[in-house]
Amino acid sequence: MPADAPGSGEHQLVVVANRLPVHRIDGHWHTSPGGLVRAMLGVLRTRRGAWIGWSGDIEPGPVVVETGGDATAVVDTIDPVSAAHLELAEIEMVPVPLDASDFLHYYERVSNGALWPLFHDAIRESTFDAESWAVYHDVNRRFAEAAAKAAAPGATVWVHDYHLLLVPAMLRHLRPDVVIGFFLHIPFPPQELFMRMPWREEILDGLLGADVLGFQRSVGADNFVGLAKRLRAAQPHEHGVRINSESLGDGRLVRVGTFPISIDVDEIARIARAPETKARAATIRARLGEPSTIFLGVDRLDYTKGIDLRLQSFGALLAETADEHVDVAPVVLIQIAVPGREGVDSYIEERHTVEQLVGEVNGSHATIGFPVVHYIRRSLALEELVALYVAADIMLVTPRRDGMNLVAKEFVASRLDDTGVLILSEFAGAADELTQAVLVNPHDPDAIVAAMREAIAMRPSTAGHRMRELRRYVTAHTVDNWAASFLDALGHAAPPDASPDLVGAEHG
Ligand code: G6P
Repeated sequence: MPADAPGSGEHQLVVVANRLPVHRIDGHWHTSPGGLVRAMLGVLRTRRGAWIGWSGDIEPGPVVVETGGDATAVVDTIDPVSAAHLELAEIEMVPVPLDASDFLHYYERVSNGALWPLFHDAIRESTFDAESWAVYHDVNRRFAEAAAKAAAPGATVWVHDYHLLLVPAMLRHLRPDVVIGFFLHIPFPPQELFMRMPWREEILDGLLGADVLGFQRSVGADNFVGLAKRLRAAQPHEHGVRINSESLGDGRLVRVGTFPISIDVDEIARIARAPETKARAATIRARLGEPSTIFLGVDRLDYTKGIDLRLQSFGALLAETADEHVDVAPVVLIQIAVPGREGVDSYIEERHTVEQLVGEVNGSHATIGFPVVHYIRRSLALEELVALYVAADIMLVTPRRDGMNLVAKEFVASRLDDTGVLILSEFAGAADELTQAVLVNPHDPDAIVAAMREAIAMRPSTAGHRMRELRRYVTAHTVDNWAASFLDALGHAAPPDASPDLVGAEHG
């Protein structure tokens, strides 16, 4: 390799994700919450790792403001942000700066305005425009260049999620010596939907640059293999697909596998066990007036999550049981909605829909001092979330479509006494694994009401048995197991001419 080629990096393992695992509050950096971050940091620490991602800050740059008529004003109002490298417990953080135009086109328009809705069953119409795609392409190139620079010779690079679909092929071009993994955290759509994407071939070529492609569910892996065959003439293989094109590396095997992500079970259990958590859970129940049943929903405020469907069905349940109401609410719903992506129209609309429904259900069923829906639109500390999981009786996880849904797994991991019922959408990735939940089709309002009634009426012995089974499963399939199995698959993919028959978890 020439001395000035990228490849002088020193990191044996490089994670590439849209966001860095740190964020800034009042000028101070904090590690971001979540099992994924913890698991990846653990792995990186043992391997001299680097993490490449966006800091969440928008870099200074000209911002064009529409002033009406033909006139536009160019202003520069965004606070400058240092792009200096950060160190977090021996892991190098490499920020990829995004300016206002990158944020608009790469993050809002392509990632969250085109890819996110299409990959989630086209629940909302995607918008496609070539200008935004050019920026998405350019930002992906910058991520690939940063990875190429950080990686040591023969290093492993693990790329994450739909923001970075083009990075694997770009990186392979820059650094043919590194082993490249890509994991998609969201669903991979069926062919009929994917075919709408104007840049469908480019996306497939981008992904086919990887050595290992991981999906949450086998249906996503199957969708990908079908499309690679149809549009890129790739040959299906026992372990994935073989490339059939000069430019992508003819004859190369791309392993395709199913790797359902999970949570840090020990951490959730530790919080659930803490006396403060139990006390907080008791306080929550008391503050609600000791209702007979607490339903709980915890979601990002996103139209994929089906918060609106859940609220409608909750209203219908209360209407059916109205005669049973006395002075206090016997049944309540706590709905936590974590805001985000608020510059995207469909998120603004979803917020309005949800808030209108909260008003309607409370307007119809609340009594003085006792609302039936407790709606909290903000992000809560994990300790408070676990206290809510412990306080609740019935967890509602009813997305229209979801890659996995880790809230379902967190609820299970919190139920140390094996009580409680999980109502889970068939359209969440978690439904493939959490088969002892009450599985429901969230598109059918009667089915959600029936599931709510079933959960309320479930005998404690039945609920206990089901929760025990769920907990056994989640305890045996943690986020550490997930990371290890993906890295294991990458390890087997290491030398380009290694035997392709080693990985058990792969697509068959
Ligand atoms: C989903 C995506 C993640 C993303 C997260 C939060 O889980 O799969 O990649 O980070 O949502 O969304 P945000 O747009 O705030 O990063």
